[in-house]
Amino acid sequence: MPKQSELLTLVYFSPTRTTQTILEEVARGMNIPVASVIDFTKPSTRLKDAYDIRQGPVIIGSPVYAGRIPKDAVVSLEKIKGLGQPAILVVLYGNREYDDALLELRDLAINCGFIPVSGGAFIGEHSFSNQEFPIARSRPDENDLKKAFQYGNRISSMLDQCPKTEMITPVSVPGNYPYRDGMGDTAFQFIEINEDCDSCGTCVSICPKQAIDESAQYSTLDETCIFCCACIRACPQSARTLKDSPIKKKAAWLFENCGIRKEPEVYFSKSFNATSPEGARI
Ligand SMILES: Cc1cc2nc3c(=O)[nH]c(=O)nc-3n(C[C@H](O)[C@H](O)[C@H](O)COP(=O)(O)O)c2cc1C
Ligand code: SF4
Ligand code: SF4
Repeated sequence: MPKQSELLTLVYFSPTRTTQTILEEVARGMNIPVASVIDFTKPSTRLKDAYDIRQGPVIIGSPVYAGRIPKDAVVSLEKIKGLGQPAILVVLYGNREYDDALLELRDLAINCGFIPVSGGAFIGEHSFSNQEFPIARSRPDENDLKKAFQYGNRISSMLDQCPKTEMITPVSVPGNYPYRDGMGDTAFQFIEINEDCDSCGTCVSICPKQAIDESAQYSTLDETCIFCCACIRACPQSARTLKDSPIKKKAAWLFENCGIRKEPEVYFSKSFNATSPEGARI
């Protein structure tokens, strides 16, 4: 039986589930049983005021929105409280850049009472990716999963060799202060719903913001929507598509300019073995 202190907690916000996928693979690589999962994508999880994590390492993951951690993820992650345990960090980005997001996640983890021991930036299919403008299509792929597993495996053995977490210096990761401007509070229509909609309700149940109005032909409440595209991805009828809007323009721009495949990067605290490079593409 594993010791309590060896049980893992997974914490994430992941509308299109690429962050969740990578976190689960990192956890597999760590080979420590997952004791609990705090999925802030679900509106019900975000209702609670605080989550105390008293034992064991935590893996914290978030997508990158405009080079930052999405506001909903920040507000949610601020609810977790640790007691100095190690935090293994992961951001997922859509093959453009992660800018200041990993640094922001590191700072958040420290403020929540954890010691961020490592940080990884992985690539997921861009939320705006579609048939016309595929961007990082089908990522994370097999290769990414292998690297996520290795990342978990490596941090696990580093922690084994360095049992006193309080002695570990927080990891240094790329990023700048002040953080770049994130998403503004813009609201506009960007989803078209075609006649293939059969009112199945999948989009309503998947939307992390409860921003779909069932009583108005499953249209989007623009003020609440965060452009995560989870509803488009999940629609079994492919009835939700991008209409002409700044999001579709952005998808076209990303398709034109961000086609060169990027690879995951991982960073480890300087406190670990000098043979482990502090930052490296893997
Ligand atoms: C509003 C918004 C902004 C985004 N901004 C960026 C960005 O700045 N850089 C980038 O490479 N990807 C960006 N993405 C893509 C996501 O980071 C990427 O698709 C990620 O894999 C989504 O994670 P999830 O599957 O856990 O939701 C953005 C996505 C959305 C919805
Ligand atoms: S998931 Fe698609 S088919 Fe189902 S209600 Fe929503 S838009 Fe209609
Ligand atoms: S309505 Fe907006 S917030 Fe809800 S799933 Fe669709 S894109 Fe995301």
